[in-house]
Amino acid sequence: MAESMKGLKRTCRCAELREDNIGEVVTVMGWVQKQRNKGSIIFVDLRDRSGILQIIFEEGEIHAEGFAKAERLRSEFVIAVTGKVVKRSGAVNENLKTGAIEVRADSIHILSESETPPFPIEAGSKTKEELRLKYRYLDLRRPDLQNNLIMRSRVAGLIRQFMAEEGFLEIETPMLTKSTPEGARDYLVPSRVHPGNFYALPQSPQIFKQLLMCSGYDRYFQIARCFRDEDLRADRQPEFTQVDMELSFVDEEEVMEVNERLLQRIFKEILDVDIELPMRRMTWQEAMDRFGSDKPDLRFGMELHDVSDVVKGCGFGVFTGALEQGGSVRGINAQGQGNMPRKKIDALVQYAKDFGAKGLAYLAINEDGTCKSSFAKFMTQEELDALIQAMEGKPGDLLLFAADTNKVVYDVLGNLRLELARNLDLLDKNEYQFLWITEFPEFEYSEEQERYVAMHHPFTMPMEEDIPLLMTHPEKVRARAYDIVLNGTELGGGSIRIHQNDVQEAMFEALGFTPEKAQEQFGFLLDAFRYGVPPHAGLAYGFDRLIMLLAKQDSIRDVIAFPKVKDASCLMTDAPNAVNDKQLEELGLNISAAVQTENGESGV
Ligand code: AMO
Ligand code: AMP
Repeated sequence: MAESMKGLKRTCRCAELREDNIGEVVTVMGWVQKQRNKGSIIFVDLRDRSGILQIIFEEGEIHAEGFAKAERLRSEFVIAVTGKVVKRSGAVNENLKTGAIEVRADSIHILSESETPPFPIEAGSKTKEELRLKYRYLDLRRPDLQNNLIMRSRVAGLIRQFMAEEGFLEIETPMLTKSTPEGARDYLVPSRVHPGNFYALPQSPQIFKQLLMCSGYDRYFQIARCFRDEDLRADRQPEFTQVDMELSFVDEEEVMEVNERLLQRIFKEILDVDIELPMRRMTWQEAMDRFGSDKPDLRFGMELHDVSDVVKGCGFGVFTGALEQGGSVRGINAQGQGNMPRKKIDALVQYAKDFGAKGLAYLAINEDGTCKSSFAKFMTQEELDALIQAMEGKPGDLLLFAADTNKVVYDVLGNLRLELARNLDLLDKNEYQFLWITEFPEFEYSEEQERYVAMHHPFTMPMEEDIPLLMTHPEKVRARAYDIVLNGTELGGGSIRIHQNDVQEAMFEALGFTPEKAQEQFGFLLDAFRYGVPPHAGLAYGFDRLIMLLAKQDSIRDVIAFPKVKDASCLMTDAPNAVNDKQLEELGLNISAAVQTENGESGV
């Protein structure tokens, strides 16, 4: 039977006790990690969020009723124990913070019992993630997840402290709002009061923070929940958290400077890692050319080489064909991998194909200088020598080439480079390579929408010298946008904003918005700009991604208390779910027959 807390008061957490506390009488409460019954003596590992403490129940030392309770204990029972802290009778357990001590119980209360949990509550669980997510409240008891969430809370606190010191105001912006243009699909919320109308959940606080600048709050920040209906990946969730900020009367330098110091502070305080400032910077074009990615991982080399000029007139149709189509031929040199087995090379070719390559040409340079290659037979020795030289190939190296449009070549080799680094174990989780990417293209062409779309968002200022190209050559316009990249992950991004109505209107026009549509969607922002708008700029971090990297995790699911799975559902609550007909009726909604059939039935 569960006992009450009457007369009980916890004096400390389990793992807060040390040798200094020997002799003290304490009351600790927590979950039974493990009970070992040795007859007249019972050992219990008691766990709370601070860690584990060993409790000893010895017959005769504790009254008979208490000993009987200790005998009944099973994993995950919640108990309160009062007893004396003593030096550990057995060997010191070096793995525990409390390994030098134990508590000898003289009273015990069973606060609640537990059924056998569906999986063991322990660090480094091997349990399948689906099961852990279904019982997330149990999964969250595991020390690894607890440490992640504790770190997350500490980092949030640190950010608030730093931002306050720097004169930023924390201001909340609405969740029920109008569509924000970050490029993903919106989550919509039907209005009961205005049937047929919908709020959109914010993809970011972008427009509101710009309006706050118009209102004079010159330094704003918020740890804000954002919603995007997009395909999930390890570093993407449908709802996620941004550390969002906006500053007035600043340029790129000031935004970057304050953010570099923020990151430096976080890494020092959380990991005791010193980040050297200023951080490196690279233009988008350079990043693409050298790494095939706008978020390059700088922890290893294996840069791309453009060999288009070298193979221009060669006899290998795959190469010359790509060049004739306006594409390029580029390669990477996997140094020392010349004797990679055929099977592994084939796996790389398949990997490249998954990213849209039609193939992957390879050339292994044998130690004796001869080659093993999928295309050497199409080339003369001189052509091969020139190619190897351009790739800085040495005996023992493996050269890999992609020939296609620039976009495909970058994507294939950028990803192949990462795959090789993973396979060759080149990624050190204790190394932190920060990098700012600047001068992004303002637009990218969307095949789906058959028009240019903003690469960052439509409020991003073009580089001054490129403004005249807005209407004539949108593909050439570079943006005053910047991303902060850490070890190949885009941590955050931002930009200088357009604060002139004429430039903003030109942007909307370039994006294919009629003046009427722009007014309908963003009229309030354009109007606000007519009443005195300060030049402003900002940035937002993916807070979950930041914590993921700090906690050395591979997925943001491991740093979010209640994450969703790939199909955006929650395995614990079963959200999203059907609602009853009355709710639908109130909202003026009808579920189409096709959807009803698909779901089995509508309503609950
Ligand atoms: P952006 O769209 O680049 O910029 O988003 C900023 C950062 O948010 C993180 N992020 C995500 N994290 C988890 N799950 C997602 N689905 C997800 N989508 C984005 C990324 C990203 O770098 N308003 C602008 C910022 C600005 O201009 O100030 C914005 O939202 O780490
Ligand atoms: P094929 O003549 O199609 O057998 O191709 C010869 C070699 O070129 C094979 O190793 C292919 O994988 C490779 N290859 C084919 N298409 C491409 C491409 N677009 N880029 C690089 N290599 C390719």
